Amino acid sequence: MIKSGNTVWHHATVTRADRERLNGHRSVIVWFTGLSGSGKSTLAHAVEERLYELGCRAFVFDGDNVRHGLCADLGFSLHDREENIRRIGEMTKLFLEAGMIALTAFISPFAKDRRRVRELAGDAEFIEVYCRCPIEICEQRDTKGHYRRARKGEIPEFTGISSPYEVPENPALIIPTGEAPLDACVNQVVSCLRQRGVIAPAGNL
Ligand code: ADX
Repeated sequence: MIKSGNTVWHHATVTRADRERLNGHRSVIVWFTGLSGSGKSTLAHAVEERLYELGCRAFVFDGDNVRHGLCADLGFSLHDREENIRRIGEMTKLFLEAGMIALTAFISPFAKDRRRVRELAGDAEFIEVYCRCPIEICEQRDTKGHYRRARKGEIPEFTGISSPYEVPENPALIIPTGEAPLDACVNQVVSCLRQRGVIAPAGNL
């Protein structure tokens, strides 16, 4: 529900197209989704690093980090996860206007929430990347110790254990983060950005 009445959208005189021209690349949202521990953040940051080296303006939004500030009031119920993704969607949409490549690393377990961001951003600007990693491997890695605690019932509604994860039906990319080396995963994402004309073809950057 919109409570902020009596507000009028202010149109920028420096447009998104101006910023994209200045940056030398298009702005998009690269939406990494997958289980906790599937490698979303690691991959998003490695892609960010590669894009930085190529002279592109990219920025990672990470689930754990955003939940320390902007979304610190939200938990992990269906409603709170929906609101978490809604806020991220709105924020990354602003980053599109700013001419940036937004890389997001949120479990975002529900197809409808991801679809809503796609609708908000526009089909061509939303690149869904499924980090495919079997739960057995995520659980083996258990870098944060969350799976062990979730199995003991100490963390309720834990994705993959006591809360569902809906695998994307038609993602732009499926990255086998459970098996492929990080560098190969980064190459897959960067090639996709080149193919879609987001960044210049190899050799031109
Ligand atoms: S999302 O479901 O709303 O997209 P988000 O990506 O922001 O989740 O946050 C996930 C991170 O929160 C996990 O990597 C994990 O560290 C932590 N976490 C804490 N409780 C839970 C839970 N119940 N389910 C999943 N992740 C949790």
